[in-house]
Amino acid sequence: MSAKEHIRVAVIGVGGIARGQHIPGYLFCNDRAQGVGGPTVEIAAFCDVNETSLQAMGAQHGISRLTTDYCEVMAMEDIDIVSICTWPDTHHQIAMAAIAAGKHIYCEKPLARTYPLAQEMCDAAHRAGVKTAVGFTHRLTPAAQLAHRLITGGSLGEIYQMMAIYSMGGVDFAERALTPRRTRAVTGGGPLFELGPHMVDMVRWWTGQEITAVCAQNRTYIKRRRWQDREDWADVDIEDASTFLANLEGDTTCVFSHSSVITGRNFDQRVEVYGSRGALLYDQARPFELRACLGEEMVRLCASYGLYDPLWGLYRQEEPYPVIPVPREFVDAVPGARQGKPCRSYAPALVAALHGETPEILPTFEDGARAQEVLDAVLLSAEERRWVDLPLDSQST
Ligand SMILES: NC(=O)c1ccc[n+]([C@@H]2O[C@H](COP(=O)([O-])OP(=O)(O)OC[C@H]3O[C@@H](n4cnc5c(N)ncnc54)[C@H](O)[C@@H]3O)[C@@H](O)[C@H]2O)c1
Repeated sequence: MSAKEHIRVAVIGVGGIARGQHIPGYLFCNDRAQGVGGPTVEIAAFCDVNETSLQAMGAQHGISRLTTDYCEVMAMEDIDIVSICTWPDTHHQIAMAAIAAGKHIYCEKPLARTYPLAQEMCDAAHRAGVKTAVGFTHRLTPAAQLAHRLITGGSLGEIYQMMAIYSMGGVDFAERALTPRRTRAVTGGGPLFELGPHMVDMVRWWTGQEITAVCAQNRTYIKRRRWQDREDWADVDIEDASTFLANLEGDTTCVFSHSSVITGRNFDQRVEVYGSRGALLYDQARPFELRACLGEEMVRLCASYGLYDPLWGLYRQEEPYPVIPVPREFVDAVPGARQGKPCRSYAPALVAALHGETPEILPTFEDGARAQEVLDAVLLSAEERRWVDLPLDSQST
C-alpha cells in the first residue's frame, strides 16, 4: 500500500462522538503535519440520516458533499477513511460496505451488537487489508498510558488481582425514559455494552492477557419505562447493572462492575491492580497521576506507614500510595493536549498507520472483536447463571 500525502475522510453519523472526538482528531492531524511532515487530512464528506444535523454540520465545517445514505459514501472513490459514529446496530452493515469498497475504518464502540458480527467485521477487514481503529478512548488517558507502561514493563511483577469499575449515574435514574438507544436491538445491552467495552479493552491492553472465563450477574431494576415523548410504556430489555468475575490467562482475576444507577455521580472509572511486586490505583477523574506502590522497599514502606487502627484491626488510609505524576510523553500522545485542547481521538494514530507506522496504542477491529466476545460471554453467563469459558465459537453464539 503506497503512503498517500493527502488523506480524505468521510464521517458517517455527525452526532456527539463525531463532534467530540473524530472530527477534532482529523483536524488535529493537519497541525501535526505542519510539525512533523505527516500526510494532510481533509474531511471531505458527511453522512447522517438526520437532514437537519447534516446540513448544520456541513455549513459549520464548509463541507458540500453531504448525504443521508452511507452507500453513497462508499461510491466516493477518493475517500480513504470512513469514521463510523452511528449507533451500534448500524456499525456492522456500514463497516462491511466500507471494507467492500476498500476504505480504512475508524469505528465507534461497541464494534457491533454481537460477537459473531464483530468477528465477521474483523475477518473481512483483515482479508481486505484495510486499516482499522475502534473508539476505545480511554487508552489515551495519560494515567492509563502510564499504567500500561508500568504493568507491561514488569514493575508490578505478576498481576494477581484487578478491579475495574466504569459506571454512570445522575439523579433521575429511576425516572429516565426509554429511548431506542436504551434497547438491546440498538445497543446490544445497557452499561455492559456502553461502558464495558472500554474496561475489557483496558484490562486486556494493560495485562496483554486474554480473558478465559467469566461468571456474571446482570440486573434490571426498573422493569418497565415510558417511551420518551410518548404516553405508552414498554418492558426494558437491557441491564441497569452488570457485575462479572473474569479469569485471565495466567493466574490473574478481575472483577468488573458496570452500572447506570450510581445516583448523584457522573462517569466513575477506576481500576485497581495488585501484583507480586507492587500495586496501582487508576482513577479517570485524576488523568495526570497514578497512585502506585512499586518495588520491595515501597511495598514495605506503604505497609508500615499505613495507620494501624487497633479498633478495627486494619490498616486504613485515605491515600494508601504515593502519587506518581504522568510523564509529558503520555500527555503529548493525546491529540491537541499540548495546544491546550485535549481530544481523545485515534484519528492521528490511524492516519499514521496508513502511512506505514504501527502505533502501539491503536486499538483495532481485532481488539473490538475480543472485547465483544467477552460481552457476549457475560450475557450468556448471566442468562444461564453459570461460568462461561472463552474463546466462544463465533459461529454459534
Ligand atoms: N468512545 C467513546 O468514548 C464514546 C462516547 C460516546 C459514544 N460512543 C459511541 O459512539 C456511537 C454514537 O454515539 P453518539 O453518542 O455520538 O450518538 P448520537 O446520537 O449523538 O449520534 C449518532 C448520529 O448517527 C446518526 N445516524 C444513525 N443512524 C445512521 C445511519 N444509518 N446513517 C447515517 N447516520 C446515522 C444519527 O442521526 C446521529 O446524528 C455509539 O456507538 C456510542 O457507543 C463512544
